[in-house]
Amino acid sequence: MIHETMERIGSSGIIPVAVIEQAQNAVPLGNALLQGGMEAVEITFRTAAAEEAIRRTSAECPALLVGAGTVINLEQCRTAVRAGAGFIVSPGFDEATVDYCLEHGIPVVPGCVTPSEIMRALAKGLEILKFFPANIYGGLAAMKALAGPFGQVKFIPTGGVGPDNLASYLSSPIIHAVGGSWLCSKKDISGGNFDRITKLCLEAREIAMKR
Ligand code: 3PG
Repeated sequence: MIHETMERIGSSGIIPVAVIEQAQNAVPLGNALLQGGMEAVEITFRTAAAEEAIRRTSAECPALLVGAGTVINLEQCRTAVRAGAGFIVSPGFDEATVDYCLEHGIPVVPGCVTPSEIMRALAKGLEILKFFPANIYGGLAAMKALAGPFGQVKFIPTGGVGPDNLASYLSSPIIHAVGGSWLCSKKDISGGNFDRITKLCLEAREIAMKR
């Protein structure tokens, strides 16, 4: 399952990152993303509605890989998995979360931006890592430099990714996929602008398919 999930994320190239404030918006968002050709969504644990949003989306949008993002401790990780999250993304490296996911066969993508953090992930057998906030930590140039000593690592940059730099990120073989909120902003989700979300996804997908 780990392999298949990460492969699907890699071949689609894009993970929309969603902050959902009202659980009732979760399924319409899932459907809008699917119509926009997305394979996955990362629902962030930053709102009270996140757990319920994951529950509803994973139950009602089975074609979508539903993951939990902003998972910063084991308790959130367990809650997300119980709600149906099929993968876990963290802004940093939390050993308890990583160990739990590995023990339970759940794909996990910790955030690692320094050589030491990357080495901690490699020691756990993880080679697909989040790079966040990518725009602040040096973007593609920084990841290319890290790929010198860590040639087996593939990155998922998030933070400041958008239509202007999407093609540049995806053109590099060290990029597994990118993540970003520009496809489904908090404002568009809470405002019910699902057609706009689908349109933004279709535009991004066209760029991603060219790689
Ligand atoms: C994340 O959670 O990965 C980031 O907040 C997404 O960053 P963005 O809002 O700049 O896309």
